[in-house]
Amino acid sequence: MTIKQLYVAGAGLMGAGIAQTAITAGFDVTIREVDDNLVNRGVENVKRRLDSLVQKGKLHAAERDAALARLHPTTSLEAAGRADFVIEAITENFEAKRDLFKRLDGICRQEAILASNTSSIPITRMAAVTKRPDRFIGMHFFNPVPVMPLVELIRGRDTSDATLATTLELSKALGKTPITSLDYPGFIVNRMLVPFINEAIRALMEGLGTREDIDQGARLGLHHPMGPLELADFVGLDTHLYICGVLYEGLHDPRFAAPPLLRQLVDAGHFGRKSGRGFYRYGPDGSRVPD
Ligand code: 3HC
Repeated sequence: MTIKQLYVAGAGLMGAGIAQTAITAGFDVTIREVDDNLVNRGVENVKRRLDSLVQKGKLHAAERDAALARLHPTTSLEAAGRADFVIEAITENFEAKRDLFKRLDGICRQEAILASNTSSIPITRMAAVTKRPDRFIGMHFFNPVPVMPLVELIRGRDTSDATLATTLELSKALGKTPITSLDYPGFIVNRMLVPFINEAIRALMEGLGTREDIDQGARLGLHHPMGPLELADFVGLDTHLYICGVLYEGLHDPRFAAPPLLRQLVDAGHFGRKSGRGFYRYGPDGSRVPD
């Protein structure tokens, strides 16, 4: 099946990143949010990123304009009726995703594929609320989506071979390198990442080193682009806490249990970069500031 029309549900960090990647790769993308303010903010973010690529000489102005002409903002769910492929990138909450997929299932063409960008919610559980579990798949992108080359594809219990083949093809057309995972908690990447970040938080709690020592350790000793505490702030501490909950519930392994310091920071409203404070402090543009 050839994919031409994409519908991205959610215009936050991930949705806007997915839309930017897709329009730059030549796809027609309808991007949806619940109100005009949110959808416009998502489109503005895409424009800002493309402008910056033009300024750096990495994209021609004409390519930017052509890409933006392929982006169609909407607040309509019914607009998904035209799509070949839907990528859901709304908040990481099962009930919200379940309600959205139920509605999309009633709107979308029979042959359309529904994909979720969830980082932790079982694909099989979401697929089961639709009448098309064979045409349902996990498509987990990484932040920042336009920069990170990986997409993790997750087969639900009933995902068909044809759906996987189409999604593999789409991933490559988006310029990403796909890997395929079974539908077990955390899939492949978060199964490795969550214990790593949790161990760093526990090390900080124990006073094993300062936050800078711990992050430098990973950056300079392991060649990671960001240390685990910086990365947790980047992902969002509330999001990381939610993912820990899903993995711990699914695997009953203490490596996935949220460290008390993580819970305390979230209780205090310190969600990381997006709230201006987490393990570090951030200015309004998301850059680190001294505390
Ligand atoms: N959106 C789009 N592009 C971005 C961006 C963003 N939010 N942030 C940075 N970029 C681009 C810049 O424009 C720049 O592009 P260029 O090379 O074409 O000029 C490039 O990324 C490098 O940016 P900078 O020079 O400003 O900064 P760095 O070299 O420090 O790189 C980084 C920033 C790419 C974010 C790098 O620090 C990094 O790779 N960090 C690790 C990211 C990571 O691990 N992500 C995965 C998180 S886990 C996840 O998403 C899964 C979830 O389930 C939890």
